[in-house]
Amino acid sequence: MHRVVISGIGVEIPQASITNEELVASFNAWVDAENPRRAAAGEAPLQKSDADFIVHASGVRQRHVVEREGILDPARMAPRIPARADEELSLQAEFGIAAARKALAHAGRAPRDIDMVICSSSHLQRPYPAIAIEMQQALGTQGAGFDMGLGCSSAAAALHVAANLVRAGAQKRVLVVVPEIITGHLNFRDRQTHFIFGDAAVSMVVEALDEGETRAGRFEVLDTRTWTQMSSNIRTNLGYLTRTALDDPYMIGLEGNMIKQVGNKVFKEVTVAGHRFIVDFLAEHGLTPEGIRRFWLHQANARMNSMILKLAFGHDVDHDRAPMVLDRLGNTAGAGSIIALSENHADMKPGDFGLLCAFGAGYSIGGALLRMM
Ligand code: COA
Repeated sequence: MHRVVISGIGVEIPQASITNEELVASFNAWVDAENPRRAAAGEAPLQKSDADFIVHASGVRQRHVVEREGILDPARMAPRIPARADEELSLQAEFGIAAARKALAHAGRAPRDIDMVICSSSHLQRPYPAIAIEMQQALGTQGAGFDMGLGCSSAAAALHVAANLVRAGAQKRVLVVVPEIITGHLNFRDRQTHFIFGDAAVSMVVEALDEGETRAGRFEVLDTRTWTQMSSNIRTNLGYLTRTALDDPYMIGLEGNMIKQVGNKVFKEVTVAGHRFIVDFLAEHGLTPEGIRRFWLHQANARMNSMILKLAFGHDVDHDRAPMVLDRLGNTAGAGSIIALSENHADMKPGDFGLLCAFGAGYSIGGALLRMM
């Protein structure tokens, strides 16, 4: 068995951003245009969205996106992402590679040092060829690549797989890439969800340590965990069978099949499951929450994170213990907790413990117990 280290982390944030006020103005312009038609058809009017509600309910103030104008156009309300030829690099591979190059540079590794690429994302641009294989070719890494996904726990689940492959000696160095272009799958005409997500890509180099080797300033991966329990409270039905049911009375069109969630149920149920996961995982290692210098939690909802930690600790915990990036990035699905980790560890001392914990659709939870070297 080998000891395992996260030797490099890379983060890619798209330049374009959208504030709550801009998003709400576009949504409400669409509601104003749509309601006369609804009234004429005898349908109930749509309710307007509200920037103050968004910040109070979720903590999100703005999000970064791969394309802004199409989202804000009330006549479109979806990013405009031109199709590319098969010979060109796909957008998802390109986005992931930008983060991967930063992770490789941070690790001091060349692409040829990598013997596996795992692309893990809550949404994949296509089923095959795997996005990971496209990245493998474009980067020039060795060995093999494959895609996987576990909703917002996608990065944590990929770290679980990568760390155990490396620990067992099956691979020497795995490049985990998590390109989340979640605005491509978001229904910007749904008041309940239009404000939640943003785009971001992250990457990690996960590698074996030689006997007695240490990597100062990097995290040893002591253990990883995943947990799942079926729930339809966060769900997408859009998939390769969608077109086969277009004449079915239950079929509700493209937008009706996109991400939907019963936010308040998710909030309650995942808060309970999340804090139990943290307490139990730490207990297996003889640790309590007080013994953990930093928590990098999934970045979905500021109030939810506070509550998870309050249940785990028995008292309130500040942002130094559990940093937040969702206020400026929104929920970046699998990428969120890794961005929090990347931005908030330079002050940690050798021997300090950190806990990565992501949660979301499935339900799913993924965690990693890390120790600063
Ligand atoms: N603008 C104004 N009002 C809105 C609104 C919007 N954009 N969206 C919903 N509302 C209204 C609702 O219609 C409801 O009105 P009502 O009381 O008249 O019925 C009210 O606000 C409260 O809605 P609710 O859904 O209970 O809000 P909430 O406090 O639970 O916050 C979320 C909503 C989505 C921010 C929150 O539930 C959440 O973040 N949940 C967890 C999500 C998560 O972790 N997902 C996993 C990762 S993907």
